[in-house]
Amino acid sequence: MRCMKYAQAEQKLARIIEESGTSSHLQQIVDFLYETFDTYSWIGIYLVKGKTLVLGPWKGTQATEHTRIPVGTGICGSAAKSGKTELIPDVNKDTRYLSCFVSTKSEIVVPIRAQGKIVGEIDIDSDVPHAFTTKDVMFLEKVADMLSEHIC
Ligand code: SME
Repeated sequence: MRCMKYAQAEQKLARIIEESGTSSHLQQIVDFLYETFDTYSWIGIYLVKGKTLVLGPWKGTQATEHTRIPVGTGICGSAAKSGKTELIPDVNKDTRYLSCFVSTKSEIVVPIRAQGKIVGEIDIDSDVPHAFTTKDVMFLEKVADMLSEHIC
């Protein structure tokens, strides 16, 4: 059933990207992920501007103070630097972690690549420990691929 949910979510996201104008699709995607997956407690898309990650559309119950993160700093900055997905089952055990919300227990950061460069990333915090599985990794890496030509 959960597998089906990922597949259906992928189709819905493809439609959002296809149908929406460039200005609104990122917010719609963030909103959709937030509403669809119970364990996704805060979702944000950071965009790479020079050597800094700048927070774009986000959805969650609270705003983060980390709206600008240097590439190389924190979990987000590490993923932007390496170009690899960061899956953190327990944020309190990772010394790189920049705390945003006391409720966060686990986190995943998936880079968005375009023409060989990292142009942004999807950052998801969960209030549930060990919330993210390899299915989330595969799904969110697909979403990042879908977004790669739609980030400016
Ligand atoms: N925890 C992130 C910072 C961003 S907030 O989670 C929204 C990090 O360690 O880079």
